[in-house]
Amino acid sequence: MSANDRIKNQPWSGRFSEPATELTQRFTASVAFDRRLAEFDVEASAAHARMLHATGIIGKSDLAAIEKGLGQVRGEIRDGRFEWSAAHEDVHFNIERRLTEIAGEPGKRLHTARSRNDQVATDVRLYLRAAIDQALGHIKALQRALLDLAEEHAETVMPGYTHLQVAQPVTFGHHLLAYFEMLARDAQRLADCRKRVNRLPLGAAALAGTSFPIDRLMVAKELGFEGVCENSIDAVSDRDFAIEFCGCAALAMMHLSRFCEELILWMNPRFGFVTLADRFCTGSSIMPQKKNPDVAELIRGKTGRVNGHLVALLTVMKAQPLAYNRDNQEDKEPLFDTVDTLTMSLAVFGEMLPGIEVDRNAMASAARQGHPTATDLAEYLVRKGVAFREAHEAVAQAVRYAESRGCGLADLKVSELQRFSPAIGKDALAVLTLEGSLKSRTHIGGTAPVRVKAAIAKARKLIA
Ligand code: ARG
Repeated sequence: MSANDRIKNQPWSGRFSEPATELTQRFTASVAFDRRLAEFDVEASAAHARMLHATGIIGKSDLAAIEKGLGQVRGEIRDGRFEWSAAHEDVHFNIERRLTEIAGEPGKRLHTARSRNDQVATDVRLYLRAAIDQALGHIKALQRALLDLAEEHAETVMPGYTHLQVAQPVTFGHHLLAYFEMLARDAQRLADCRKRVNRLPLGAAALAGTSFPIDRLMVAKELGFEGVCENSIDAVSDRDFAIEFCGCAALAMMHLSRFCEELILWMNPRFGFVTLADRFCTGSSIMPQKKNPDVAELIRGKTGRVNGHLVALLTVMKAQPLAYNRDNQEDKEPLFDTVDTLTMSLAVFGEMLPGIEVDRNAMASAARQGHPTATDLAEYLVRKGVAFREAHEAVAQAVRYAESRGCGLADLKVSELQRFSPAIGKDALAVLTLEGSLKSRTHIGGTAPVRVKAAIAKARKLIA
């Protein structure tokens, strides 16, 4: 393309005496990635055109030509026939140029009373709203899979850890419900973020609004926005909604990552608590025996890039003066990748979960190591009238004794236990069992199997 052609290519080139250099053009072009917004750009343009007509800004035949032309553009995009060109900078110019090619003069009227600044903000919001809805669907599916697994394991005992040292017995169902709670908060956060995403910037034009008698509420209604951005300067310069989404995504990924870390650990034969189905694992090119939990590792690893995107967006915004600056073009790749990473991770995790095989015996025998019911014995003594600090001390001594004998606290005889507190009776043996410990925690949020089943029933209603 000659320099002369290159300069004529740009809708803004009227005041320029020379074209952008090739490198500048490549450097500033965003169409390679923002073409992802194409469908939303067409949708928003059609709503804008209908409003322009309804308010008498463009004529009936103009609207008809624009609508028809946009329909054709949409068809070409969907069929992969649309010719994207970096010479036309971004998704907006590419679409407008093709529309004008198809519709002629009326196509040139579409950009009345709008700017790419409010246009791009509108497109991104439409895109993100759809992405949030998709992510919410995946979270719900994952929550269902969690509840199914938790139901199966409402009575399965496993060691509960603090400091990754055996703490107290819990049911595996209870452990899984902890992740249900995290995901419930993730869903709440996304739904709340959606409210702030779902506002219409269009009408702000470049930053100061427009002298045309536009009807912003009409456009908002047509595009399903809950309201309009109230200030034109804020409308074009705000990217809080994208940052907020990335914050929500970072938290959700962190939750998945923690779960993955546990699955990876539990698949190690030293734990042997679970096996992941073969279809979610891969082998080694050199070690024939290997079966690696790569899906879980990748989700854990991808958490890093989502955190990075959050920081990238915060940094893109931190020193921008009002209103729109081209810096904002840098919001897209981090945002798109965050959406992709979150949705894929949620989806693959949701698929992987039902394929988890649990070794109940391995969990139970691990739960017996490390005197997990010591706290239960201390609480037993408190019920017999011993002050908690004294009960704690007495049981600690008993643990030391058991250690010196190379056995567990629960393996000691009543007569041995009585050396550490005269308040200990025969009934102490029952509280020292795993089952006794679990059964006693029936309060709201407790790990007793009956409570876990009740919590599952409540959770099912919550996501119904
Ligand atoms: N590609 C641009 C972006 O993503 C569109 C808006 C361009 N506006 C402008 N004044 N140059 O932000």
